[in-house]
Amino acid sequence: MKKKFMIEYWKFKSFSKYLKHIRELHYLRKYKGVEMVKNPLDQIIYEEILDDVRPECIVELGSYAGGSGLWFHDHMKIFNKSPRCMTISIDIIEKKPKPELIDTNHIFITADTTEQSTFDDVRNLIGNRAPVLVIEDAEHNYRTTYRNLCLWWSLVTLGSYFVVEDTVLEFYFGKKLGNLKATIDFLKGNKHFKIDREREKYVAINSPMGFLKRVS
Ligand SMILES: C[S@@+](CC[C@H](N)C(=O)[O-])C[C@H]1O[C@@H](n2cnc3c(N)ncnc32)[C@H](O)[C@@H]1O
Repeated sequence: MKKKFMIEYWKFKSFSKYLKHIRELHYLRKYKGVEMVKNPLDQIIYEEILDDVRPECIVELGSYAGGSGLWFHDHMKIFNKSPRCMTISIDIIEKKPKPELIDTNHIFITADTTEQSTFDDVRNLIGNRAPVLVIEDAEHNYRTTYRNLCLWWSLVTLGSYFVVEDTVLEFYFGKKLGNLKATIDFLKGNKHFKIDREREKYVAINSPMGFLKRVS
């Protein structure tokens, strides 16, 4: 562990310092030796959602090295015999985990998530699997997030979630990424989803107002 992270917790003078610490730490995480950019508290929320929803299919928009996709797929297997995970990224080829780590039902797709053809291909790969959960963790700007929400929402089954990650930067630190605004704008025009703020109970999370539950 790098020395700057070996901080006595009582020295945190403010919540924002603690949040910043967690954010910096989440870039150093790995699963099965593969990089995974995930706030551990968000991961606990995912564990709870997987337990409640028991998805047979997860679509992850933006995968980076693929560690998070491996984690999702392994954890879906606790509740389903052969769940399918689809992990999509523009740059996945260079970063893909070693083949021995990848199950046949874990499909890595190199494509632009904002393209209609990517959506059509993935919808065919899902077939009639349900429940389906979708995660938006791509570019985090307004254009990509809004486009991804509008393009992919219909795959999310009733009672499941469309999770928009990393809204914390806009929500708490005031940075103008655009993904939180895109989420709010999407919800204004789409009444099938409601923000499930009860999922945010661990507080120091990366996705405040990002757990969108399909309610109709
Ligand atoms: C924040 S990282 C994903 C982190 C990963 N989900 C995790 O938890 O470890 C964002 C990824 O999305 C990819 N990306 C950004 N825009 C994209 C797009 N329009 N289509 C596909 N992938 C995109 C980036 O190349 C990068 O790999």
